[in-house]
This record gives sequence, C-alpha cells and structure tokens, in this order.
Amino acid sequence: MSLYVVADREELTRLAYHMIIGVISSKEEVTLGLATGSSPEGIYELFRQNKPDVSHVTTVNLDEYIGLPADHEQSYAYYMKNQLFDHLNFKATHLPDGMNPDQEAECARYDAILAENVLDLQLLGIGTNGHIAFNEPVTDFELTTHVEKLVQETIDANSRFFDSVDEVPTTAYTMGIKSIMEAKKILLIASGPEKAEAIKAMVEGPVTESMPASILQRHPDVTVLVDQEAASLLEAVKNSCCGGTGDNCCSDNDNSDGCCGGGCGH
Ligand code: GLP
Repeated sequence: MSLYVVADREELTRLAYHMIIGVISSKEEVTLGLATGSSPEGIYELFRQNKPDVSHVTTVNLDEYIGLPADHEQSYAYYMKNQLFDHLNFKATHLPDGMNPDQEAECARYDAILAENVLDLQLLGIGTNGHIAFNEPVTDFELTTHVEKLVQETIDANSRFFDSVDEVPTTAYTMGIKSIMEAKKILLIASGPEKAEAIKAMVEGPVTESMPASILQRHPDVTVLVDQEAASLLEAVKNSCCGGTGDNCCSDNDNSDGCCGGGCGH
C-alpha cells in the first residue's frame, strides 16, 4: 500500500485526476472502475473542464441503490450521467440497475460485465465505517456482486443527499470485495476529519471483515491518497513533523524542507 498525505482536498483531487489520466493514456483499451459520493466530485469536475479523450474507455461503477430509477436525482446512475457521462465520449458505461426486481439475475449480469472488463484502475472512496462500495461491516471478502443491506451509520451519512433520512434506500447492489480486489490498480481517496478513524483502521489495523477496507492491505498495487485531516490519526503522521501535531513535532504543521527532510532534531 502506498500512502500519500497531501495538504488538502484540492491537492488530492489534482493528484488523483492525474493518476487516472495516466492510466487512461497508457493503453488502447482501458476499463475504469468508478465511484460515487462527494469524494470524487472534484475529479469529475476536472474531467468536465479538461475533456480528455475517453473514447477507448469503458467504465464500471461500484454500486447502485435498490429502488431508485435512473432518473431519480439521488440514484448513482443520475449522479454519473450528470457528473461525467453526459459530458465525455466514453466507449461504454455500466452501473447496476437498481430497478431490476430479479436480484439474482442483476447480480449475475453485473458479474458477467466485470468478467468481460478487467478493471485497470478502481477508484474508491471510503465510508466512515470503513465500507468500500457498499460492502458494509461485516462483509464476506469472497463475495462478488450482491445485495447489501445498508447499516444505519451509512443511511445516516448518506441522508445528507436526501430530503430526509426516511428517503434513503436501505438496500443496494454492490460490487463485491472479490471483484474490487481483482482490479489491477486501486486508488482510494479520502478527505476530512470524519474519515480519520476509518483510514487509521484501514492502514494500521488488522485485516478483518469488520473493517472492509482493510482488505486493501493485501492488494499488490494500492495507492491511498488522503488529506491531512483524514490522515490525522495515523501513527506515521502523528509522529512526523510534516503536518503532524503530535508531541514529536518540532512545530505544528511545519512543512519546511528542513523539517520534512528530517532536520527537526529528532
Ligand atoms: C457511499 C458509496 C461509497 C462511497 C461512500 C463515501 O456509501 N457507496 O462508494 O465511498 O459513500 O462517500 P463520500 O465520498 O461522500 O464520503
């Protein structure tokens, strides 16, 4: 796992965008695994501004709420269309169909899409409880696409996008951990203090199904890109003088070259 701690969300967004563009320009045919939520919004904004050629890029999204039609403003299909798909010339785009009542068939359909489209890069956010996509704690690491019952913490966290908490769907189709782990590369982004505990558990805790993101410790090519607030509980950050605020810091948020070069006298 390569961990990069950057100053803020803006820098994180810029770096993540360039990393994704690097993958897009590396091959003639590319499959990108995409995420929703607030974390990737800045990245999609850069896509809209720069309009890179994506005519060779197929996208496969992580998840979709069950029961929301594609034209519902809070469906992930609507989010992706609005943020990205209406603005760029992707070769093909895929999301689970939240309105397919045959759940078994929908999961099989999505697994078949994943089997045909090996993910070159999977972009991930992380839930405050450590979920990735909608794989909630405790998740079976061997599952592929399945229906997940959302836990109350996720329903509460995602209620900020809805008029009321009662409108948040309680189930979702989600790519499973097994499929996420089959991506060649993974880029996980997180910013803000509310993600700090999940980031600490993911990076420094044990690999356990009660912290779904911890499985990423076992993937051979994962980049974790976090801002200082999301990284604030990591031991390595607390004890460093590059933005750290722990007792070992020569001065809080000292970003001088001398400090980061180890010139703090410790
Ligand atoms: C949702 C999505 C996840 C996302 C998470 C965090 O639950 N299913 O894919 O990572 O929210 O969202 P945000 O980036 O808004 O904090």
